[in-house]
Amino acid sequence: MSSLPSSSSSPSIASPPSSSSTALTSPDAPDPARPGAHADLAAGARPDGPSAALAPTLLEVNGIEVIYHHVILVLKGVSLQVPEGGVVALLGGNGAGKTTTLRAISNLLAGERGEVTKGHIALRGERIERLTPSELVRRGVVQVMEGRHCFAHLSIEENLLTGAYTRTDGQAAIAHTLEKVYAYFPRLKTRRASQAAYTSGGEQQMCAIGRALMANPTMVLLDEPSMGLAPQIVEEVFEIVRDLNQKERTTFLVAEQNTRMALRYADYGYILESGRVVMDGAAAALRENEDVREFYLGMGGTDRKSFRDVKSYRRRKRWV
Ligand SMILES: Nc1ncnc2c1ncn2[C@@H]1O[C@H](COP(=O)(O)OP(=O)(O)O)[C@@H](O)[C@H]1O
Ligand SMILES: [Mg+2]
Repeated sequence: MSSLPSSSSSPSIASPPSSSSTALTSPDAPDPARPGAHADLAAGARPDGPSAALAPTLLEVNGIEVIYHHVILVLKGVSLQVPEGGVVALLGGNGAGKTTTLRAISNLLAGERGEVTKGHIALRGERIERLTPSELVRRGVVQVMEGRHCFAHLSIEENLLTGAYTRTDGQAAIAHTLEKVYAYFPRLKTRRASQAAYTSGGEQQMCAIGRALMANPTMVLLDEPSMGLAPQIVEEVFEIVRDLNQKERTTFLVAEQNTRMALRYADYGYILESGRVVMDGAAAALRENEDVREFYLGMGGTDRKSFRDVKSYRRRKRWV
């Protein structure tokens, strides 16, 4: 089960083609010359996904299929791109496949008895599906797992320092990064000596992100940072993400159910449903999209609960 064809649109599964053709398109006026291509929406949807206009592509996920326990097909041809220095949101409800996508990228599937069975993943053009998670950390990609896994019995500072385990550039450099983390997360500095178990959920999420930053990453895969946190704390966390992105040029791929918050801070978003990308586009365009507003932002809704409930002719025009 390990062959990884490079084709992005494997015909053997009933999945839509790669993200460039599942893009945010106008349901009523598809471009006949480029069927399925991005609509030229005012907010900056770009013809070839988030990387096309400005920055080179840092991460490319191309038509991946993921199977757990050899039988449970969870991702059915997911494609996405993350440009260098971008903040990309991976949106979708519970069970859509967000965590699985991040695990596939950071190579954490094996521990869950899952594997990528089709498609490929590339970091700056280099295939990374065969790398171990720690090799990936050395290449600058770090995942912050869902549920803010801090070491409960360690202090905040000890937790942060565990994030530097792959570094070989010496104590002084690590101490410098620690101070930088404290500058972004003043709350962590205040709580540096506290045992993580006795800190708040928000502080633990910040600690989990801070620990990832201790590896000096170029890219952070952030899984549901909002989970279980009060809206004000979620906003504080996202503000720090934005700050890191702007000042350190750290690239983020953020999996979120909190569509509203994620689209406020991301440049670009992909919406997953049942293991498929059903829509993608510039964050501003997604925020204005009628279906996104209805299904994910709770605005102007009827009783349709999912993109899948949209009339089939509209779906056909948009996504197939
Ligand atoms: N280790 C696993 N073994 C089997 N099925 C799994 C495993 N992890 C996740 N799944 C299934 O994969 C689907 C997608 O899950 P997940 O990627 O966690 O979605 P999300 O993060 O969007 O909530 C779900 O149906 C879930 O039950
Ligand atoms: Mg998840």
